[in-house]
Amino acid sequence: MKNTVKLLNLLTQTDGYISGQALAEQLGVSRQAVWKTISALKEQGYKILSVPNKGYRLESLPSYLNEAAIRRELKTSILGKNLIVLDSVGSTNDYLKELYTNGCENGTVAATREQLHGKGRLGRIWSAKKDECLMFSVLLRPHIVPGEVAAITPLTGLAVCKALRKATRLDCRIKWPNDVIVGNKKLCGILTEMSAEFDAVEYVIAGIGINVSQTEFPNEIAYKATSLALETKRSFDQNKLLAVILGELEHIFTKTNLSMTRDALDEYIPLCATIGKSVSFQRGSSRISGTAADVSNRGELMVMMPDGTICLVNAGEVTVQGIY
Ligand code: BTN
Repeated sequence: MKNTVKLLNLLTQTDGYISGQALAEQLGVSRQAVWKTISALKEQGYKILSVPNKGYRLESLPSYLNEAAIRRELKTSILGKNLIVLDSVGSTNDYLKELYTNGCENGTVAATREQLHGKGRLGRIWSAKKDECLMFSVLLRPHIVPGEVAAITPLTGLAVCKALRKATRLDCRIKWPNDVIVGNKKLCGILTEMSAEFDAVEYVIAGIGINVSQTEFPNEIAYKATSLALETKRSFDQNKLLAVILGELEHIFTKTNLSMTRDALDEYIPLCATIGKSVSFQRGSSRISGTAADVSNRGELMVMMPDGTICLVNAGEVTVQGIY
């Protein structure tokens, strides 16, 4: 753990003041080094009181995404135990792939204030200004075979949707498989990526982007994108939001053992805005239309064709009438 994080942990855990000497001893550095770290933290927005003969006291944390504030709220035991919070990164999904090659643990979370090459589904770009969007990825090392991975995507959508309903009181719904929407606009996108051998999954990375404080969107997406600020006229603490979402993800992943159980489907289906709607999707070279009837226990969309037969759809782009 870096000294800055250790120092912040000590300040957070202390009620009242802690002396420069005590901090220096516990960190194994000089008092001068403690002072330098405190000054750097103050510049980053941490309010730290320094009183002669008493020491330092943490008054408040910055409101932007930061490790100390997330840890303060976090109630999970697996997700985020290894938590990395970055100022800027290419993509949190790619960052975790890199970490995986160095052997990082199940449940590692990478969150960032800014992404320079954020990735969306189907090769699209996910872009947002610094601090406007909550962006993070979770790495799982599940003991399942590749065929069982499909459920992780809708389970992630379900957990994020439930957490956002709880934290914001908005009527969030899921656009199958896992966009979270409000009304007919997108609030959150999820990109799930995996690496597997023939008979074993190495990792699954669920990358989540939630529009938090945008008050406008570029023209090309303004008709289909929304944010928590636009929907509620309120501001949200991204640190608290992240802690609530990780809590719900851990709860659902543990309870279901990463499969689409009957209980999970019973929660997913009433929240899924796609069910009952006219949908169309690509099969080979033709565009097929039908009505979304249900979701299977493998997370596939079950589409009823005009002749009454059911077609299973498991990935790609599904167009839903009435939703972007
Ligand atoms: C989509 O709706 O197309 C999926 C968007 C996923 C965006 C998130 S932001 C955090 C993580 N890192 C990425 O590069 N993408 C995902």
